[in-house]
Amino acid sequence: MSSSLEHKRIVIAGGSGFLGVSLAHHLADRGASVVILSRNVPKAVGPWRHRSWDGRTLGPWRDELNEATGLVNLAGRSVGCIKTPDHRDEILRSRVESTRVLGEALRSIDSPPPVWVQMSTAHIYGDPPKAICTEESALGYGLAPFVARAWEEAFRASVLPSQRGVVLRTSFVVGRNRGAGGGALDTLGLLARVGLGGKVGTGTQGMSWIHEVDMNRLFERGLMNSAMQGTYIASAPHPVSQVEFMRELRRAVGMPLGLPTFSWMVRIGARLLLRTDPELALYGRYVISKRLREEGFKFQLPQLREALQDLLDCSASGVPSGSPRVT
Ligand SMILES: NC(=O)c1ccc[n+]([C@@H]2O[C@H](COP(=O)([O-])OP(=O)(O)OC[C@H]3O[C@@H](n4cnc5c(N)ncnc54)[C@H](OP(=O)(O)O)[C@@H]3O)[C@@H](O)[C@H]2O)c1
Repeated sequence: MSSSLEHKRIVIAGGSGFLGVSLAHHLADRGASVVILSRNVPKAVGPWRHRSWDGRTLGPWRDELNEATGLVNLAGRSVGCIKTPDHRDEILRSRVESTRVLGEALRSIDSPPPVWVQMSTAHIYGDPPKAICTEESALGYGLAPFVARAWEEAFRASVLPSQRGVVLRTSFVVGRNRGAGGGALDTLGLLARVGLGGKVGTGTQGMSWIHEVDMNRLFERGLMNSAMQGTYIASAPHPVSQVEFMRELRRAVGMPLGLPTFSWMVRIGARLLLRTDPELALYGRYVISKRLREEGFKFQLPQLREALQDLLDCSASGVPSGSPRVT
């Protein structure tokens, strides 16, 4: 166990969901004292304290930031939904307003944390069909890039001039469900198991992904490594096409059959059956972090096959949720 996080207080805003709970376990396993800020009490039980906030206004929760070692902000309404005007509005405001109020809180206390690690999305690059995007690429067009830009702008306006700021433009995180959701892999795994995990649309759309172990190592690096600053892509170095992703997923769950789904079927089925946005399945992107490569970051699970095997093997063998299998 690394001693650098021992007894250090880390505040995770929006930490009650899939990624927050995974990170909270990771940090607590390394001796940190974790505080989760969220509107609802986390569904999962674990080694953290919970403080309520509304993600919009200052409240007694800000005291948790005083003398904390670091802040991680993950708050944001899920994008896995039908994009009604109300949902679009909430997707934007939940990110921008929560980021702004964290900035207000930092300005209202005596001893703010020296580092703020901010979630962002690799969807900021839009949906280029073939181009491989790095941190230097142009940003994309559409709702997700618009929201991501506003989110990052809110962060830049809110982070203190004295603070080290790290932005993680994160791709699809594959991880375990620890009682707070398992992200999109839950749905894709189910489709693969029932024989529906085949080509979607053209199948060439990029699926950039990262294993939760590497995601948590990046959060930790952002918190503890003073050389890390600015914007990074958080994604494994080997993005794959949708067809290849599902082939590996079928292999991992032991299902040889994967029926294809034509675009028109996705457009109807995603809305009616999964109550989600078909474009999330029909489009994608290939992203790779140039900065992490230059800084020598070594991914523990850089290949999709091993990453999926790790997750699906462990759930099958009953290894307890949150098991600290990797450092
Ligand atoms: N999972 C991925 O693959 C992935 C990839 C890239 C980026 N991200 C981003 O990373 C963040 C965390 O992802 P996740 O998978 O852990 O999502 P999640 O399971 O849906 O958790 C979302 C968190 O945000 C909070 N939240 C939801 N609506 C909110 C609102 N209107 N105002 C304030 N807080 C709100 C939730 O808590 P309460 O509802 O209790 O407040 C929860 O703590 C999200 O911003 C997501 O967009 C995720």
